Amino acid sequence: MFNLILFGPPGSGKGTQSEKLIARYGLKHLSTGDLLRSEIANQTALGLAAKSLMDKGQLVPDEVVIGMIDAALVNNPKARGFLFDGFPRTKAQSVALDELLQKKGAEINVVLALDVTEDELIKRLLNRGLTSGRSDDTKEDVIRARIVEYHNKTSTVADHYSKFGKVVLIKGEGNVDEIFDALGTEIDKRLDK
Ligand code: AP5
Ligand code: MG
Repeated sequence: MFNLILFGPPGSGKGTQSEKLIARYGLKHLSTGDLLRSEIANQTALGLAAKSLMDKGQLVPDEVVIGMIDAALVNNPKARGFLFDGFPRTKAQSVALDELLQKKGAEINVVLALDVTEDELIKRLLNRGLTSGRSDDTKEDVIRARIVEYHNKTSTVADHYSKFGKVVLIKGEGNVDEIFDALGTEIDKRLDK
């Protein structure tokens, strides 16, 4: 198995690059943000509880997203690997993910971290908010709250995987295809091993 975390702050391009990476490498895309928005669309109890936090730009509780990832790993026993997008987002989520993968005899092979300036993140998300229908994209104070959550709770995830030498920083600004090539180069190095 080959398991990759595409890491980075809100608006850094995780979703955009994930679509291209899964097409090239045949990995199963697991985005906790997408899974939560699908729960909201289906008006489940989980979705309704998550929505009020997401609308404020705050993280939903660890046990909720860990449960969703656990179920997705169980439901995809034949996957050749997973691309985690927007997960893990706390130290507790990283530890839980490592344990879930270990049960499958697998691990995180690499964490590719997209590096984008805060001004660019805000510009991208406000721009997307004009058309996305995402309630957390329309207000600048909510976008800023998402970025604060990232600094307070999520950046530690990179520290966790840095201890194992698994984090590679990738410039996340500029041409989408050039960023994709830079990500692919790092993946190919590790697939060859
Ligand atoms: P989530 O859905 O994960 O959102 P996010 O991480 O805040 O970030 P986005 O999905 O908005 O950005 P992205 O990095 O995917 O960038 P994208 O490619 O879309 O989470 C939403 C919420 O759910 C959280 O706030 C939280 O409440 C909850 N949640 C989710 N996971 C959770 C977890 N694990 N634990 C707890 N809570 C969780 O690009 C953004 C825009 O930029 C697009 O318009 C795109 O076209 C554009 N763009 C992309 N690349 C470029 C480029 N190179 N140049 C110019 N524009 C670009
Ligand atoms: Mg996304």
